[in-house]
Amino acid sequence: MTENTSDDMKTAAVADHGTEDRQAAPEPPSQQPQPEPQQGPHQRPAPKVSPWNEPVVAEFRADHGRVGGVFEGGDLLLLTTTGARSGREYTNPLGFLRIDGRVLVVGSAGGSPQHPAWYHNLLAHPLVSVEMPGDDSYEAVAVPLEGEERDRVFEEIVRREPGFGDYQDQVERRLPVVELQRSETEGAEEVDNLADKLFQIHGWLRGQLVNVRREAEQYLAERESSAGTPPPGLNLQIRQHCLAFCESLHFHHTSEDSVFPKLAEGFPHLKEPVGRLIEEHRVVDRLRGELESLLADLRTADPVRFLADLDRLTEELEAHLEFEEGVLIPTLSEIPFPPVGPTE
Ligand SMILES: [Fe+2]
Ligand SMILES: [Fe+2]
Repeated sequence: MTENTSDDMKTAAVADHGTEDRQAAPEPPSQQPQPEPQQGPHQRPAPKVSPWNEPVVAEFRADHGRVGGVFEGGDLLLLTTTGARSGREYTNPLGFLRIDGRVLVVGSAGGSPQHPAWYHNLLAHPLVSVEMPGDDSYEAVAVPLEGEERDRVFEEIVRREPGFGDYQDQVERRLPVVELQRSETEGAEEVDNLADKLFQIHGWLRGQLVNVRREAEQYLAERESSAGTPPPGLNLQIRQHCLAFCESLHFHHTSEDSVFPKLAEGFPHLKEPVGRLIEEHRVVDRLRGELESLLADLRTADPVRFLADLDRLTEELEAHLEFEEGVLIPTLSEIPFPPVGPTE
């Protein structure tokens, strides 16, 4: 498996397959030359775009998500994933459907026997970026649907886009159906300063933990009611949310470890609390590892103990977030964000 192979190239392949394949992302040639990195409006730096897809991506971004040719009138988004092994970002144009308010993409790879690369990528790194028509860009958690829910939604997808049914008939694998869940943040709605930004990030982290607990609780209840047989349908969802949470937490604290000492240089009264915060990050990192272990054992875990452990981890993390906010907010609220002026 490589990170940048199959659906990367669907645009050109779609052109060869006619309009029925607009949503389907046909399998491209596997040996494509690697393009030079491009810099788009995406927040992350220079995701790779295949040469086949470059014109489509450029047209999409230049014309507010409208793309002509075989895509005329079709629903197209740009999905940026992080390479499962390389860590490098890749942008793919993909057809999408909206069903019951959800944004969904299908890993058809044009009827290829292999899952598309972007699907492998989002399993390894669930946090993705989405560019929608109308200049609506957002971060999302990619969650593949499972079990009966996947089948029910896929049936509706085929009703709307019969080409997906044809692809499914061609292959042994079940075509993945992936929901792109917009990352909602709690806390500050408008960000004017660093305190707002910190609240926003912490709010997102808190929200993800709430999601993980709710889904784990539901999964464990279903497992109990099915006489201990692990139910299909939620395991992957929990895993994706957990992974998204853990990756975000790690990234956030890595950034803080770098920024906080500089902050303390400018505000000496913060030196001592910043030292404590950085120490706590080591503890939180251990908790993160514990959370990953807990969820890895979810299928067999004792429900009472599992939820008690999860609550303990949540409490410890919450204590860290609250302490951090308590000591830093008065100072951070004086610092504009995004940065302005010559100090930027
Ligand atoms: Fe922190
Ligand atoms: Fe923080």
